[in-house]
Amino acid sequence: MIQHITDDLYQIGEHVQNEYGYEAILTYVMLNDGNPILIDCGSHIHRDSVMAQLNELLGDAVPEYLFLTHSELPHAGNIAAVADKWPNIKVIVSNVMLPYIEVLPVLPLEQITQVVPGTKIEFPTRTIEFVDALLKDQPGSHWIHDPRTGALFTGDGFGYFNAEADIQTLPATAAEAVTETAFAQYHKVAFRFLQWISPERLAVDLRKMFTKRNVQVIAPIHGNAIRGDIDGHLDRMIAALGTVKASYQ
Ligand SMILES: [Fe+2]
Ligand SMILES: [Fe+2]
Repeated sequence: MIQHITDDLYQIGEHVQNEYGYEAILTYVMLNDGNPILIDCGSHIHRDSVMAQLNELLGDAVPEYLFLTHSELPHAGNIAAVADKWPNIKVIVSNVMLPYIEVLPVLPLEQITQVVPGTKIEFPTRTIEFVDALLKDQPGSHWIHDPRTGALFTGDGFGYFNAEADIQTLPATAAEAVTETAFAQYHKVAFRFLQWISPERLAVDLRKMFTKRNVQVIAPIHGNAIRGDIDGHLDRMIAALGTVKASYQ
């Protein structure tokens, strides 16, 4: 389902049922003045649906870039279909192994670039920044910040499971749209290592990341984009990390 988030930012994707409800597997699209940018490209199991949604949203526009937060299949699994449809697309990855292991067979190496945290790519109306993923499930995962929309694309971070009734709706802009309990439930499953972290230190880094940047939208791949009460969501996320850690003790 195509959903408009803000400005030229859209989300598309599907949901997969699991024991907790429904898990989103999303792709974000910035139309970017006729040179669209994709953030992740969905799972191969949703190939037909994802490509249909991309075609509907993009029309004749040809995406210039695909930015991958990391290389797991729900994020990169649809790359063969994307490369087949748009063979000149440039892929930005976060891990040096990825082009050799998963991306190279479908695209020439010169179309694939590895970036490190702090790298910026300039466009006429935005400068995209790649930042270290503070919650990562692959060593090279990165997050991506777009100052124009204020979106922080957080990969697996800030995900949450949805009830069936909520799948078609974005979280309201009101406070408490995503609860601490929902963040805790998802992150305990998605990041098994949270039992070994220091929630206090992670909280400091998370607050620093948000303070330094204009964040108006938190855009996880596994949960609808969060558009309101950013400070409250950050607080509830940080509380959830503490809750998860405490659950092991
Ligand atoms: Fe992941
Ligand atoms: Fe994921």
